Amino acid sequence: MNDMNKAKLDYYIELVEGELKKITASKPELQGEVVKAMEYSLLAGGKRLRPVLVMEFARMCGEKRPEKFARAACSLELIHTYSLIHDDLPCMDNDDFRRGKPSCHKAFGEDIALLAGDALNSLAFEVLSDEAIAGVIPPERAIMLVSVLSKAIGTDGMIGGQVIDLRSEGKDIDLETLNVLQTCKTGALIEAACVMGVILSGRFEAVPFAADYAKALGRAFQIVDDILDVTGSFESLGKPIGSDEQQHKTTYVTLLGLERSQAIAKQLTVEALGHLRYFEDYEFLSQLTQELLTRQS
Ligand code: IPE
Ligand code: IPE
Ligand code: MG
Ligand code: MG
Ligand code: MG
Repeated sequence: MNDMNKAKLDYYIELVEGELKKITASKPELQGEVVKAMEYSLLAGGKRLRPVLVMEFARMCGEKRPEKFARAACSLELIHTYSLIHDDLPCMDNDDFRRGKPSCHKAFGEDIALLAGDALNSLAFEVLSDEAIAGVIPPERAIMLVSVLSKAIGTDGMIGGQVIDLRSEGKDIDLETLNVLQTCKTGALIEAACVMGVILSGRFEAVPFAADYAKALGRAFQIVDDILDVTGSFESLGKPIGSDEQQHKTTYVTLLGLERSQAIAKQLTVEALGHLRYFEDYEFLSQLTQELLTRQS
C-alpha cells in the first residue's frame, strides 16, 4: 500500500477507534462489569475492516465527508466483536486468546462474555437508530441499514453459517457446503458493510456492484483466515494457531491443501478487483483488497 493510502487507512481506523471509545464510555455504571467486558474485546485492536468498508463505499459513491458516518460504521464492528466473543466460547471454538489477549470468557467468565456479546449486538442497532434520530442518517436509509444488517447476521447469514460450522465439526463436508458455510459466517457481514456504505451515500443503484465485490472478498478473506490458522503465528494473529484442526473443522486447507487454497484466494481477489471497476475512484480499496490476500494478521 502506498503512503497516501496507508495514511488514509490509518485515518479511518483512528476515526473508528475514537467512536468506539465514545460509544462504550456513554454506558451507565450500573452494568459496569459487562461494559468492561465489552470494552475489553472491542478496544483490543483488530483490523477494523468492516467499518472501513462502510466509509470507503460511501465515499466511492459520492459522499464528500464519509467520516460523518464513522459512528454508524462502528455498528459493524460492534456486531463483529460480538461474533468473535461468542465464537471463542468453550461451546463453540473454545479458543483462549483473541486480539492478542485472553478471550473475553477467560478474562470475565463465560456468563459475562455471553452477555457482553449480546449487549454488543443490541448496541449496534441502538447506535444505528440513534444516528438517524440525531439527523446524521435520513430515516428511510436507517431503516434500510437495519434491514440489511439484521438479515446479514441472522439465520440466513452469520448465525446460519456458524450453525453449519459447528454441526460440520468432525464430518466430511464437500466444497459446496464449505462455500455456503463461509459465505454465511464471514461473507454476509462483509457484504453488509459494503452495501451499507452504498446505502448511506444514497446511490442505491450501486448496491449490486458492491455486493458482488463483497461476495468475492468475503470468500477470499475466510480462505486466508483458514490458511493463517495453519501457517500464521500467534504473535501476529493474536489468536491461537491450529484451532481448526483441534476442533476437527473442514476448511479450504483440509479439503484442497495450502497451495490450491492460496490460488483460489488469489483468484477471488482478482474477481473482487474486477467488480471495483464500476466505481470511479477505487485505488485505495484496490490496494486494501490486495493487502488482505497477503495479510499476516
Ligand atoms: C476474524 O475476523 C474472524 C473472521 C470472520 C474470519 P478478522 O480477521 O476481521 O478479525 P479482527 O477484527 O481483525 O480481529
Ligand atoms: C469466525 O470464523 C466467523 C465468525 C466469528 C462469525 P472462525 O472461527 O474461523 O474465526 P477465527 O479464526 O476464530 O477468528
Ligand atoms: Mg468459528
Ligand atoms: Mg474461531
Ligand atoms: Mg478461523
